[in-house]
Amino acid sequence: MSQPSRKISLTGIQSTGDPHLGNLVGAIRPALKLAESYETMYFIADFHAVNAVRDPQQLQHNIRSVAATWLAAGLDPSRTIFYRQSAVPEIFELNWVLSCVTGKGLLNRAHAYKAARDRNIEAGKDPDDGVNMGLFNYPVLMAADILIMEANVVPVGKDQVQHVEYAADIAGSFNHLYGDKYSFVIPEVLIPESEKARTVPGVDGRKMSKSYGNTIPLFLPENKLKKLVRRIPTDSTPVEEPKDPDSSSVFQLLELFGPDDLVAETRKRLEAGGMGWGEVKNQLFEVLNTELAPMRERYDELMAAGSDLDKVLAEGAERARERASRVLKSVRSAVGIDA
Ligand code: TRP
Repeated sequence: MSQPSRKISLTGIQSTGDPHLGNLVGAIRPALKLAESYETMYFIADFHAVNAVRDPQQLQHNIRSVAATWLAAGLDPSRTIFYRQSAVPEIFELNWVLSCVTGKGLLNRAHAYKAARDRNIEAGKDPDDGVNMGLFNYPVLMAADILIMEANVVPVGKDQVQHVEYAADIAGSFNHLYGDKYSFVIPEVLIPESEKARTVPGVDGRKMSKSYGNTIPLFLPENKLKKLVRRIPTDSTPVEEPKDPDSSSVFQLLELFGPDDLVAETRKRLEAGGMGWGEVKNQLFEVLNTELAPMRERYDELMAAGSDLDKVLAEGAERARERASRVLKSVRSAVGIDA
């Protein structure tokens, strides 16, 4: 008797550098939480990253670093199938089949490609100046990532919604042609709760984002974390005067990460006067450090040479390939490559 199977949640992670608190709260933790209600498949989109990172050593570092980050943040590889895209060659075979059923016009309208074109036209250059086929075909490879695992939902940020819609479109084209023999599952976007709720403020009060340079990286050594928290801007109201707690991201961050009673008491003391920002910064440092210290330790262990990182990923790839090869077999026979 087969078990009633749970729906599959799948997402790809493309690292663009050091992970920060905003990533943890906005992406990593919500995705990990989904493991309670879905069968989860999470992978490192390392072949996608080739088009963004041209330095081979940097790419190697990023691959290990993303993997170590998610494991340190609590990804349980016995529960979540965790693998590298590059370790599942079936994805790349499917990529070709999908490109044969994808209209070029669809890809012409993809956000990233269209933005590059518009910039070129604006600058009076050839519209395709500097555009490579990796950028143009990016959505097809992403569709292959999703469809080969028969994912039901894909948790992504807003910037990736169009890509998931494209995967659904491409699946539809395939199903229209070959659906009597094999049909892909049509995937849906899942916007994690936290994206809808409040975002993590960066040290300057704007949304924490790498592009603003206002992040709190997850794995800073303790002394650097302390220095960074100390440098968060606050107004210069003297200690004895009442303060608006919400005027600084020091308090906003404390609110997000601190225990409720501490937060309530600090709010009261700031509003009453007599509490300085320096003291709030100490509280925030303690709260963050308590939360991040065990993760930092696990991350460092995993990043060390000879750790079990590669083994974990290899085991994940093996499980991912079981599913991928089953789907690919159906696809090959549906299109007539195999009998
Ligand atoms: N494009 C995604 C990003 O930049 C990463 C990604 C690659 C992905 N393949 C995927 C996400 C498949 C979800 C599903 O964040």
